[in-house]
Amino acid sequence: MKIKITIASLIYNSKVYADSIYDTLFKNTPELHTGEAEFFFIANDASEEVINHLIKQKYKFYINDNPSKSETELLEMGYAYPEYIHRVYKGWNKVFEYAEGDIVVLLNSDMIVSKKWLDNILKNLTTDRIVTSRLVESPSSVHHARWAGAIPYNLGDNPINFDEDKFKLLSKLYSLPEFIPGGAFMPCAVYKDVAISAGLYPEGNLSAGSWMDILRYGDEDFFYNRLSKKGVNHITAMDSIVYHFGEGESREVYKKTDFINKFINFRKYKSYLELGTNEKETFNKIKCNFKTSVDLNFDSDYKMSTDEFFKINTDKFDIIFIDANHTEAFLTRDIYNSLNCLNDGGVIICHDVNPPNEYSQIDENFLYQTAWKSFVKFRLSSNFLTYSLPYDCGLGIIDKKYQAEKACFELPVDLEFSDLDRNRELFLGFKHNIIL
Ligand SMILES: C[S@@+](CC[C@H](N)C(=O)[O-])C[C@H]1O[C@@H](n2cnc3c(N)ncnc32)[C@H](O)[C@@H]1O
Repeated sequence: MKIKITIASLIYNSKVYADSIYDTLFKNTPELHTGEAEFFFIANDASEEVINHLIKQKYKFYINDNPSKSETELLEMGYAYPEYIHRVYKGWNKVFEYAEGDIVVLLNSDMIVSKKWLDNILKNLTTDRIVTSRLVESPSSVHHARWAGAIPYNLGDNPINFDEDKFKLLSKLYSLPEFIPGGAFMPCAVYKDVAISAGLYPEGNLSAGSWMDILRYGDEDFFYNRLSKKGVNHITAMDSIVYHFGEGESREVYKKTDFINKFINFRKYKSYLELGTNEKETFNKIKCNFKTSVDLNFDSDYKMSTDEFFKINTDKFDIIFIDANHTEAFLTRDIYNSLNCLNDGGVIICHDVNPPNEYSQIDENFLYQTAWKSFVKFRLSSNFLTYSLPYDCGLGIIDKKYQAEKACFELPVDLEFSDLDRNRELFLGFKHNIIL
């Protein structure tokens, strides 16, 4: 079948967003399965890590490395600050060069689409229209309320804590079979020839004479204006609902609470144990039917040491977050004791296993301490799936749901921080997301 529609996203440095946009598109866009549509990434000045990930995942992509331009050169081209705008819009313009379809659909990687998002755009598309989706955005998002038809709702600020069930409900509830003028600028669909003849995206902010003096913002506003001058009107399809995280790849901060809640939500876990709850900052954010807290010094269900707790405990748990004493000997005991009261299919998460520097892992400094040594050694001895996430100080995962080959590397007898620093990926088994 001939490709009629090209869908594309830019990607820079986030494997999480690459997977997230790919998954949501392939789940909700039947045209990608019939061969009517293609999807590709423009790896726009992308990191080597992301490019390797795209290759590994067999995602279709084109590399666009933008030659660096000085402020003077950009000013000579008629553009003002900031420099990155130039590279962003060069990336989007590349899509039109590679697109096989007559229709081009652009969307940001920090978006989640709903069922029929594309059909409902396409049914409104003509050669004198550029059609956009109706965005759901958190009221705290920088963009919120800027767009006609926007729905203010917080469903999460990244793909890890995204509330998919609520989004499905919301997109049914708000779907209106009509369109309104104006709206957000992405996702958008336009006929390729129409966009090309309008001059595509300007490749920067328009300068009023100096580098710091912007005459017109060269963002989508400008592109839509170019189209409008050609008689192409901007409309929003009120039944093409798309969630926008808003912060995108520029702010990748994934928190332990997001991962813990994702495990609980996805695996339908019922019981949560936290060792070392302190003032319950994490504990209070965990959504689980039965929660148990243990802390030696703070108000909790069991105000005692974890060793004492394990002596008297008779309960079993689905998920255990270990964040008490972070020295190697203590964490090792906490891990083995936790395994004894972990249900089959359960998971253990150890905090602070990725110390950034030598100082932070010295036990006497009471920061990350030597938790990493315990986790790394455990990986060598365990047949359960073990890996870690390089977020939120390092989260070491021990997953009883999956059997795996023991991690395979050698450790020196006197294991030191410099060994970890040279072999972080290998010792800690980094993954960029949890395995559900
Ligand atoms: C880093 S704080 C925990 C932070 C908390 N998990 C959170 O995310 O907000 C560590 C806590 O572990 C407690 N703790 C330290 N050693 C302990 C032990 N052996 N048994 C139980 N609790 C311990 C401390 O009192 C402290 O409150």
